[in-house]
Amino acid sequence: MVSKFELKSVPLGLVPFLLKRRALPAHIRSLLRESLPLLPEHVRIEGPAAGLAESLLHGLPHSLDSTLLDWLVADIESCARRLCEIAGSDFAAVRLERATDRTCPRFHVDSVTMRLLCTYCGPGTEWADPNTAYSVNFGEPFDEMLVHQVPAEAIVIYGGANASAGLYPLWHRSPAVPSSETRLLLCIDPIYRSAQTPN
Ligand SMILES: [Fe+2]
Repeated sequence: MVSKFELKSVPLGLVPFLLKRRALPAHIRSLLRESLPLLPEHVRIEGPAAGLAESLLHGLPHSLDSTLLDWLVADIESCARRLCEIAGSDFAAVRLERATDRTCPRFHVDSVTMRLLCTYCGPGTEWADPNTAYSVNFGEPFDEMLVHQVPAEAIVIYGGANASAGLYPLWHRSPAVPSSETRLLLCIDPIYRSAQTPN
């Protein structure tokens, strides 16, 4: 579960983000892999961060193993609460995506304030400093050592184009997925509902 984040300083100090490294329990890891065929390509759920569990229980396939379902609901809700605490929002948009190829091949910055990602299965998201990202995108020579990867199963919170809370826009892209693997990615965005008009 999400309890404490470490601040990861990156080369050149250009792209700090919040990272919680973790290893999923072995039985959850195998249940996730076994259950991949049962999951739709996209699950999308939106709601108050403090009350996502009910929506998640409705939105996730009931054919999932009950141990896995309970774990996923608790983990996703915990991630959403933590993100919303940092973002100062009460609502969250959750996506759970299953992919067998590189869904976003070009380095880009997301049009959000901040985003939480966790790769439950498969390779983690790739990121780079803006200069390296530019070179990769436009086919110019680049140092492969400067293309990094978020560890699989880790939770990362990074800034988007409208970054706040001390975060910087993170240039990132989907990783290549080996033909024998399927990627399962959790993505959560804070939602800012406009405050009621003051009297
Ligand atoms: Fe993205």
